[in-house]
Amino acid sequence: MITTSTVRVHPPAAGGRQPAPRPAVVSIRLADRSDAAAIGRLVAANVGPGLLLPRSPADILRHVSRFLVATREGAVIGCGELAPLSRTMSEVRSLVVAAGERSAGIGTRLLTSLVAGGRRRGASRVCAFTHIPRAFVAQGFSIVPHTWLPEKIMTDCQGCEWFRRCAQYAVVLELDGARGRGPRRGSP
Ligand SMILES: CC(C)(COP(=O)(O)OP(=O)(O)OC[C@H]1O[C@@H](n2cnc3c(N)ncnc32)[C@H](O)[C@@H]1OP(=O)(O)O)[C@@H](O)C(=O)NCCC(=O)NCCS
Repeated sequence: MITTSTVRVHPPAAGGRQPAPRPAVVSIRLADRSDAAAIGRLVAANVGPGLLLPRSPADILRHVSRFLVATREGAVIGCGELAPLSRTMSEVRSLVVAAGERSAGIGTRLLTSLVAGGRRRGASRVCAFTHIPRAFVAQGFSIVPHTWLPEKIMTDCQGCEWFRRCAQYAVVLELDGARGRGPRRGSP
């Protein structure tokens, strides 16, 4: 089960002579159905720029219990989903922090909590497909060929309009200490 945590987030220092803004308390908690609309807005704002795949309101509602949300003063300012791809592989999806809240460590807190959730559910690997691998590599993920993730290819990629011309990076984190694992025999 994913637990709730509260962290004090220090916004990036403003330029000029403005006094530094007070740190704001940001909570990370499990999402519930009342968060679905806010999650949908966060995701939708990043679909146009090509950073995230679209999610329908029904899809978000169906999977809302897999999401974590970051909140400040009750407002949802970030989210991320941990979706099981197989018994041993989970995927981070729809990881997003509101544009005005970035670079303050909230994305890292969400990612760390999602990975901890994967560990608790017994996953041995957590993966993601992203245009921003740095946020993941900083947490120990490695960039790997897409074909190292056959679970993802069979679940989502084959039906995607970007299949075989996808510009996203595949990243994977080994949770069980296994490192340097190559492509599996029979991988597509
Ligand atoms: C990726 C994202 C969730 C990171 O959230 P955040 O709160 O800004 O992240 P953090 O402040 O914890 O920073 C995490 C790392 O990612 C890096 N990073 C964040 N946004 C970045 C960007 N647009 N380009 C390159 N690196 C970026 C940060 O520099 C930091 O790395 P560092 O510690 O080596 O400097 C946020 O940028 C976002 O919502 N992006 C749009 C949606 C998206 O692309 N999601 C990822 C696909 S699943």
